[in-house]
This record gives sequence, structure tokens and C-alpha cells, in this order.
Amino acid sequence: MKKLVILTGAGMSAESGISTFRDSGGLWEQHRVEDVATIEGYVRNPQLVIDFYNERRRQLPTVRPCRGHELVAALEQYFDVTVITQNVDDLHERAGSTNVIHLHGELMKATSSRQPNDPSQIIMLPADRLDIHMGDLAADGSQLRPFIVWFGEAVPEIERAAEISAEADIYVVIGTSLNVYPAAGLVQFVPDRTPIYLIDPKDVPWTASHRFRHIKKGASEGMEELTRMLKLIAED
Ligand code: OAD
Repeated sequence: MKKLVILTGAGMSAESGISTFRDSGGLWEQHRVEDVATIEGYVRNPQLVIDFYNERRRQLPTVRPCRGHELVAALEQYFDVTVITQNVDDLHERAGSTNVIHLHGELMKATSSRQPNDPSQIIMLPADRLDIHMGDLAADGSQLRPFIVWFGEAVPEIERAAEISAEADIYVVIGTSLNVYPAAGLVQFVPDRTPIYLIDPKDVPWTASHRFRHIKKGASEGMEELTRMLKLIAED
């Protein structure tokens, strides 16, 4: 089976009703990124940051995967698929994708403030107790924090994601403004022989590059079109 790698961003979940970050009305118009999504912000005011992610997490049970997520999952019938997502929601998994790398962490998980990337500290939050509170402790006795990779922190999954990108036969980018590194740099690892499809209703920084085949549509409509094209390749 050909290796298909799909890099997704906030636009992937927009049709499920989760706000993107940089579109008009996006999350970074309503919150200061320095306050709620940096390690310095967390050290300065952990309560504010924990509350911000509690609010995001409470939204998850109220939303559902969109058609685009479902079509991404369905491609596993034809390809060896890896989804590399910048999203912290669990909509790819809920749509049925079985091989998902979360570059920026996962909302449904919590970890230690002292050793956030130590696997033995990471826990799944129970569905009936979604909020993290000040005073909740991780296994190592430090304050429990959201399992989110904030600006200013290392991105532990980036090396694995780069290796997988370097082996892709087909690469797809969906709904990311490609503003945030190192995630945005992953496309540079894609071999020259590999086509890169981009699904986004807007132009993004690299759209003009001849490497990108831009399907200028939303995630669901764009995935319908791409699925038709990829099925032909799979049958080749
Ligand atoms: P952005 O908000 O920067 O970009 C969202 C992209 O989705 C834009 O290019 C939109 O045009 C596109 N878009 C909007 N609606 C869409 C739709 N229905 N279908 C497809 N695409 C659509 O979000 P990201 O690029 O994901 O990190 O942001 C990257 C990172 O910045 C996030 O993971 C987050 C943020 O700060 C952290 O918080 C660490």
C-alpha cells in the first residue's frame, strides 16, 4: 500500500464548529496567545491557562467529526495512512482514524507540570470529570496541567513526524495557515517525487509554489474531491 500522510490544522475541525485561531473571529482575536498558550503564561497565571483549556475541553462532547474527518479515516481502506495533526481535539480518532500523531498535544489528556512529556505522567481525563482544578496533582506530586504543547516548549513528536513525512508517497495538507513552526516546516521533508495536495478555502503562504495542488475548498467538500482523485491512484 502507498504511504499517504495527511497534515491537518484548525481548518479541519472548523466545520465541526471548533474555531480556528487566525481567521476573523478566531481564538487569537479573543485571547492573548502570550497569556493562554505559552509556557511563560502558564508559569505567570496557571489558573487562567487551566480555565482556558477547561473551556475548550468542555466543548468537545458537544461537537462531532465532520464529513472531512470521516473521509480522511475512510482512506485507510486504500492507503497506509498517517494523520499528523496540530489539533488538540479528538475528532480524527472519533471519525475512525487509527494512526494519529498529535504535534501540539491532546485536550483529553493531562500531565505533570514538572515532567510534561514523561509518558508515565500523562493521563486520560475521565469523561465525567473533564475539568482540571488548581490543586489536582500529577503522579509526581506537581500541579496537573493540560497535555498541550505551548509556544516556547519542545515539540516531542516532531522528529517522528519528519521521518514519516520523508517517506510519504502522497502528502495532503488540510486547513492550516502554515504559520507555526516546526509543524509548518514538515512539508520541506516531503520527497521531490511526492505530490502535495492542499485543501484550504484561502491561499496560504506556499500556495504559489508549483509543488502544491491547491483544492480551494473547505475540508469536507475538498476531501470529497480529493478522495475521488486518490481512489484512481490507489487503483493504478
Ligand atoms: P490557523 O487558524 O492559523 O489556520 C486555519 C486555516 O484553516 C486557515 O488557512 C484557514 O483558511 C483554514 N480554514 C478555515 N476554514 C476552513 C474549512 N472549513 N476547511 C478547511 N480549511 C479551513 O490554524 P493552524 O494553522 O492549525 O497551536 O494553527 C497552528 C497552531 O497555531 C495551532 O495548532 C495552535 C495555534 O496557535 C498552539 O496552540 C500551540
